[in-house]
Amino acid sequence: MSSATAAASDIIDLLDSKPEIDAQSKSGRIPEDLRGRVRFENVQFCYPTRPGVRVLRKLDLTVEPGTYVALVGESGCGKSTIIQLIERFYDPSDGSIYLDEQPISELTVSEYRKHISLVSQEPTLYAGTIRFNVLLGAAKPSWQVTQEEIEEACRNANILDFINSLPDGFETQVGGKGSQLSGGQKQRIAIARALIRNPKVLLLDEATSALDSTSEKVVQSALDQAAKGRTTIAIAHRLSTTQNADRM
Ligand SMILES: Nc1ncnc2c1ncn2[C@@H]1O[C@H](COP(=O)(O)OP(=O)(O)OP(=O)(O)O)[C@@H](O)[C@H]1O
Ligand SMILES: [Mg+2]
Repeated sequence: MSSATAAASDIIDLLDSKPEIDAQSKSGRIPEDLRGRVRFENVQFCYPTRPGVRVLRKLDLTVEPGTYVALVGESGCGKSTIIQLIERFYDPSDGSIYLDEQPISELTVSEYRKHISLVSQEPTLYAGTIRFNVLLGAAKPSWQVTQEEIEEACRNANILDFINSLPDGFETQVGGKGSQLSGGQKQRIAIARALIRNPKVLLLDEATSALDSTSEKVVQSALDQAAKGRTTIAIAHRLSTTQNADRM
């Protein structure tokens, strides 16, 4: 009884909490005709849980549309923080981030996020079919996504041939957390999921660092393909992630 009471009160607190950045909110402008320039202007940032520690100090960074920029630097220097700020998981304490000429804080969160995809180090797949897992990334309702669009995303993620070689194809169950696939296969499905929304901005947070060198090569070539024609910001520990970058 007492643990149920405590749990219920936690849930009620959670339901009552007002997030500072509300993904459901319809307020703000809808971004249109994007070119995909990302610009940090004088950005300062502290995590709310550690207000005394300034993680970013007066950061200026411009990533031109369609270019590939690699962020490198020692552990803890703030690379993932930059990606989280672009995703708008947090807002800067000072300064602004712009998409093209618009401050991202003035855009409708959900509409803004439709133009961004993130591939992180540990791909998160869910129990269900490959089709289901890829469609999770779609910006429009899944029934509006055509088979051609799904195949195109999988082709660009270098995983289509593998899916077609399975007896059940797109209807193959991946198992809980994708347990029936290898690390590289999971990561390429995560890339297909990132591409299905055809994002203007692709964010890669050490997307290959958990892989062995053979699957790293396959995933890296999928990422190079995926980066074509869009703004890409990649965090990298390995040289192979940075060698095709326009800037470091
Ligand atoms: N949620 C958080 N709350 C408080 N401090 C955080 C949080 N996340 C990161 N930090 C701190 O912010 C700093 C920058 O972290 P960040 O994750 O951006 O580093 P990073 O450059 O991505 O490092 P790595 O290469 O190890 O992934 C670190 O000092 C870290 O301790
Ligand atoms: Mg990091």
